[in-house]
Amino acid sequence: MNMDPFSFIVAILVYVAVLVFISGMTFKIIVWARSPGMKINLGMYPKPKNGFIRFFKILKDSFIFPQTLEVDRWMWVFAMLFHFALFVALFGHFRLVKEFTFVSNVIGIDNLNTLGAVGGGTVGITMLIALVYYLFRRFASPYKDISVPEDFLLILLLLGIAGLGVHMRFFGTVHTEDYREYFQSIMRFKPAFNKALAQSQTRWVLSWHVLFVNLFVIYFPFSKLVHVIGTFFTNKIRSE
Ligand code: HEM
Repeated sequence: MNMDPFSFIVAILVYVAVLVFISGMTFKIIVWARSPGMKINLGMYPKPKNGFIRFFKILKDSFIFPQTLEVDRWMWVFAMLFHFALFVALFGHFRLVKEFTFVSNVIGIDNLNTLGAVGGGTVGITMLIALVYYLFRRFASPYKDISVPEDFLLILLLLGIAGLGVHMRFFGTVHTEDYREYFQSIMRFKPAFNKALAQSQTRWVLSWHVLFVNLFVIYFPFSKLVHVIGTFFTNKIRSE
């Protein structure tokens, strides 16, 4: 086996992280779904005229978050930048599962790699800038007064993930195919590095990137980030 013990343990931890994430989120959703309905109606005015309008109001409130725009314009700008960059970065990671042949067949593999490098680099840096803003705004009132250690832990975990990701993007010495072989070996439950990765220093950055991802995914169901699901429940109640 051409994997150092640290990288092998990190690869095995991916399975633990997926199991904890799925069982933790399932538990949370069951608790939410079983929680007794509100005795009083918390719906905000103006009320949506029908279910169709209400559905789109829930989507708007959940994806555009106009409430944040009213309270803190800069927080809204960075929140939009962060979530959009995260979405694009995660979409780009699907190249680790299977090559985007539907694109490379049209523009060629070199152009796709250039697009990946420019796009990946841009969203990676955008995430870092938004996370640095999230971190520093918590050193000033009023956010300093309402911040708890969990807030800093989540931002530092995401800073670690994005920072190591960007390091691979700009200083990595291997190619997407090598990263894909690694990710596919994890999916086949036979984690291994190919020759190029095993001989490169990039393997350490990759393993630390995935370690931070594992810690983030394990902590996710027990953290404030469950707002990813919770926000829909909240906005559903607000539009009753
Ligand atoms: C086991 C899961 C993951 C693996 C194996 C992985 C692997 C990688 C690799 C190989 C790169 C460098 C891409 C390149 O240079 O071609 C990268 C970049 C990056 N990763 Fe991950 N990653 C994982 C999960 C995540 C997650 C969950 C996030 C976000 C929360 C994330 C955020 C980033 C960012 C921001 C970059 C830099 C931008 C980019 O090049 O796309 N990664 N990741």
